[in-house]
Amino acid sequence: MRHDKLVHVLLLGCTLAGANRDAPAAWSTVGPLAEATATSDQARFATASGAIVLVSFITADVVHVRMSPGEPGREMSYAIAAPQHPLAITMRDADADGRIVLSTQAARSARVIIQTRPQLAITVFDGKGGLVLADDAARPMAMDPATAAIEVSKQRDTSELYYGFGEKAMPLSRHQQYLTMWNSDTPKYAPGLDPLYQDIPFFIALRQGASYGLFFDNTYRSYFDMGKTDPARYTFGASGGELDYYVFTGGDSRSPANVLRDYSALTGRTPLPPLWSLGYQQSRYSYTPDARVREIGHEFRARHIPADVIHLDIDYMDGYRVFTWSPKDFSEPQKLIGDLATVHFKVVTIVDPGVKVDLNYPIYRDGRERGVYVRNAAGDELHAAVWPGECAFPDFTDAAARAWFGSLYGAFLDLGVAGFWNDMNEPATFPPQRSDEPILAHDPGKTFALDARHAGDGAPGTHARYHNVYGMQMARSTFEGIAKLRPERRPLVLTRAGYSGVQRYAAVWTGDNVASWEHLALTIPMLTNLSISGVPFVGADIGGYAGSPSAELYARWLQAASLTPFFRTHAEIGSADREPWSYGPEFERINRATIELRYRLLPYLYTLFAEHEANGDAVLRPLWFEYPADVRTYLLDDQFLLGRDLLVAPVLVSGAVQRRVYFPQGDAWIDWWNGARHQGGTFADVAAPLDRLPLFVRAGAAVPVQPAIEHTDQMSGVPLTLLVALGADGHSHLFQDAGDGYGYRNGESRNVQIALYRNALSLRAESARSASRRVQRIGFVEFLGLDAAPKRVSIDGRIVRDFSFDAATRRLRVGTSGDNVREILLER
Ligand code: GLC
Repeated sequence: MRHDKLVHVLLLGCTLAGANRDAPAAWSTVGPLAEATATSDQARFATASGAIVLVSFITADVVHVRMSPGEPGREMSYAIAAPQHPLAITMRDADADGRIVLSTQAARSARVIIQTRPQLAITVFDGKGGLVLADDAARPMAMDPATAAIEVSKQRDTSELYYGFGEKAMPLSRHQQYLTMWNSDTPKYAPGLDPLYQDIPFFIALRQGASYGLFFDNTYRSYFDMGKTDPARYTFGASGGELDYYVFTGGDSRSPANVLRDYSALTGRTPLPPLWSLGYQQSRYSYTPDARVREIGHEFRARHIPADVIHLDIDYMDGYRVFTWSPKDFSEPQKLIGDLATVHFKVVTIVDPGVKVDLNYPIYRDGRERGVYVRNAAGDELHAAVWPGECAFPDFTDAAARAWFGSLYGAFLDLGVAGFWNDMNEPATFPPQRSDEPILAHDPGKTFALDARHAGDGAPGTHARYHNVYGMQMARSTFEGIAKLRPERRPLVLTRAGYSGVQRYAAVWTGDNVASWEHLALTIPMLTNLSISGVPFVGADIGGYAGSPSAELYARWLQAASLTPFFRTHAEIGSADREPWSYGPEFERINRATIELRYRLLPYLYTLFAEHEANGDAVLRPLWFEYPADVRTYLLDDQFLLGRDLLVAPVLVSGAVQRRVYFPQGDAWIDWWNGARHQGGTFADVAAPLDRLPLFVRAGAAVPVQPAIEHTDQMSGVPLTLLVALGADGHSHLFQDAGDGYGYRNGESRNVQIALYRNALSLRAESARSASRRVQRIGFVEFLGLDAAPKRVSIDGRIVRDFSFDAATRRLRVGTSGDNVREILLER
């Protein structure tokens, strides 16, 4: 029995999605309640249409809703990190208006109100009774029996903004945008092109300082119309599967940080990366032959430009066969990698999913015998062209295929390869050659046929169902393969495609961007939104992949990227040389200083990653995320925060030597370069000559820095300096450990707690259980933002004479005797 049949036509996004477009749907709505039942931890509502709606509470602040057009299937998700244990629920019978109230027994629990007629509809309230979101009564939950599509609309306050959604070349807030989730190989994407490589169907909403989050866990092609069709509602749906989503109320404070913590508790966090992977990485398509790779490594060291990693793009292989080496250009890989190791370079190699169909190629044959490749609808091995020509593709949704592919990394690890870069895993294929037509960004021939078959880890399904998780499951195969082969080391995996949960396995970069100022500016909304989509280890190709940046563009891009998590220059084949020294001595000096700045800040960046793993906090943050009460931050897309304490305002415009900076309300900020103080809630025009990245430290913060070393192996033993920004009280934290391995999970790490109160600083170091060789002592404290030298400096009551004050930078430098200091007191 179907009620209120409602027909409407889906508005299409502005993509050229070809045959993948969402077909017009003939919607049947969910109908009124037929029967409500509940187990201890789940409410179940059967509706007149036959649809089933399940509601549970993952925590008191996280509501899980599942609408299935028929009897719900087994719960299956690639996004969720671990089985969930929903809380016990209470359910009150329907009142006179037909409303059922659901909640938990927690003191402050989210509440769900089910409107039972004329259509079943859901409203979620936070623990204090504030409205979070409500179904739009005019557009109830609906499904299209002919196509299996499903969707729902929520009421929208027209001032509500939306952030997240993974990788989108869109403005900072995605309100009034139509977004499609379908991982796509989109080289040289123009701003606005959608979708791109990586899709994460999670967003954080912000309305008058209060936020909430929504995660639509559906791996089919899906869409979010965030008020584009009608500003008074937003709609999300998919071409198949269930309407399975989580609402994160943000807890009592309704803060974005709470939303992200809860989302990352559900979908997982990035384990602490190896320290070296936070260093500078140099790449191009391709450094070849091996002599050129050696030369690059030696140039860095000869010129004293810090770096840790060189990437080998596809030309190192033999005819692009994965896990092989070109006998001509890379005839002695072990020697090459060993030589680079002597100058402290790590090697990362690209590994694509396509396995060349070649009966003389043992890896292909092995995979074929094991039956690990994706099959077409007819049940034969699916073949499609990529770099090597005709390829077969491991079915990464099959545990056996993942284990097999993961084991292949062993040979490369034995040679000394340190990390792996998974590309083309949307999956991307080359469409059949058609000389008379251009290849469109979203040509359906650029991936597998939608009816190709996947194992789905026990829930077999079509490519239409599993396309969006192919990339993250490849990254998982890589991560788990390396973890098994080298359990004592932390894997570095880089992936181009992903879905919610990809952060458990890999860092992510934003694919084939363009060497233009416009693309440089785009990196800030792209990377900050990816970051608050739960993926902390993010970066963009420095200089822009396609084309050749001018010296100025490259220098400015390097500056902007130097305080983003994944820090790599990469360039397309045929582009001009793009090493930090490629633009002459003056730019070499500037670029060296930029990379040195990054290395100086590594102790801070590393601590942020440790904090991310511990509690889900973002490393890179848009300003609104920390300052949700300050509306001037909501659309601010040319500045970002690294952690809570560093405000970065890169130059994004050609020829500019100063720029306007906004200082968010609630904190004061000290200029890194000259110690000038800026009150929160103000704008300032700051000087930004070519060799300066405008950078500010939050008053009250203590930021750990080190001298400008040349690679991360030099960190052990180097004393740290704490940069303390005076002007507010505050607490900071420093994390240290061996830089690799898992000793830190057994207490082999050290935390230093730092407190600033008035003009007094105190340090409290936990003793490391096994004092690891990496522990760096705090040798100095530098106080920022002083107008004049203090009258007296004392440490634990003892007057200190050896301090120095630099009037130009307004910095006071004090030597400390140890890591446990009750009080460094400045008398002014
Ligand atoms: C893809 C990648 C790019 C790489 C190229 C060759 O375009 O996005 O980074 O250089 O393939 O492997």
